[in-house]
Amino acid sequence: MPHIFLSTLGAKVRKRIRLHQVRMGMYVEELEGAVVASSRIVGSILSRDDIDLMMNSRAMSVVIDTRKGLDVDQGARDGVVNDLVSYASGLSSWFTTEEIRLAREAIQDVRPCVRDLLVEARARGSFRLDAADKAVERIMLKAMTNAGAMIAVAKLKAKDEGIFLHSLAVSALMVTFGRNLGMSEQAVRLLGIGGLAHDLGKTVLPIELLRKPGKLTADELQVVRTHPTRGYELVKQIDGMPKPVLDICLHHHEKFDGTGYPHQLRGSAIPQAARIAAICDVYDALTSFRPYKRAWSQAEAIDAMTQSRGHFDPDLLNAFISKMVINGTIH
Ligand SMILES: [Fe+2]
Repeated sequence: MPHIFLSTLGAKVRKRIRLHQVRMGMYVEELEGAVVASSRIVGSILSRDDIDLMMNSRAMSVVIDTRKGLDVDQGARDGVVNDLVSYASGLSSWFTTEEIRLAREAIQDVRPCVRDLLVEARARGSFRLDAADKAVERIMLKAMTNAGAMIAVAKLKAKDEGIFLHSLAVSALMVTFGRNLGMSEQAVRLLGIGGLAHDLGKTVLPIELLRKPGKLTADELQVVRTHPTRGYELVKQIDGMPKPVLDICLHHHEKFDGTGYPHQLRGSAIPQAARIAAICDVYDALTSFRPYKRAWSQAEAIDAMTQSRGHFDPDLLNAFISKMVINGTIH
């Protein structure tokens, strides 16, 4: 949604923006359509608690005063500029050159392990837990300080790197989201492994199908939709495979209202790890650059995800917006 300028005299200082566009350092003048009223939120947004309060208010929109606090970052976040060149220049406004360099280095570092994982799955239909573990250990270490840059750099997906960079980005998103949700490092590690493995079932599908540009036929779609079950079968062969990893492979396409696949699970019957995976998977898919499609800006993706009623766990989606988007962890 473009900004609506409320003040026309002199500088445009009062703006109506969407809830998820609010950032720390903005000055909030009014919450419009709040279901839960809280006068504490009016004023400068200084802490994560302020952001949580605001998210819980379920306001339709927010009026900010740009004389008293930060403005919205016009451009990529706004859905106006989101071609590849603009995105590349946006990267350098969000991160330092050193952070981008370290993010690229981290991706190169993890690449051999993830490649082993994918090659082994395609060639032998098996899962290399040791390679996944090694990759996640590195992702967890790098995500400690540089998650945002790593996730941002991984959005630039070349033709042959789609599955590799998507698995890596979903893993890094899940690790960071799990940490921001206050989960233990062990639980976070399993989310990271699940993120790497979630689409493993795709590696055993015909490659032409995965690379087909444009719309799939109904029959082709049916085949693609077998990938959660195929991935689960593949990962399940390993003795002692942790349950969250199995859950993520099998259930990351379930929807909260029971209309997903493969089992049409509903609400809390969908394991939490899979509900987390669904959000991270769709967020990365929507915001990534592919050779054949323009990427959505963060604002467009979050708009679409919040409007896609029934798809995601609403509480987890709210947490993703407040703890990952609004606080500026990811761009
Ligand atoms: Fe998938």
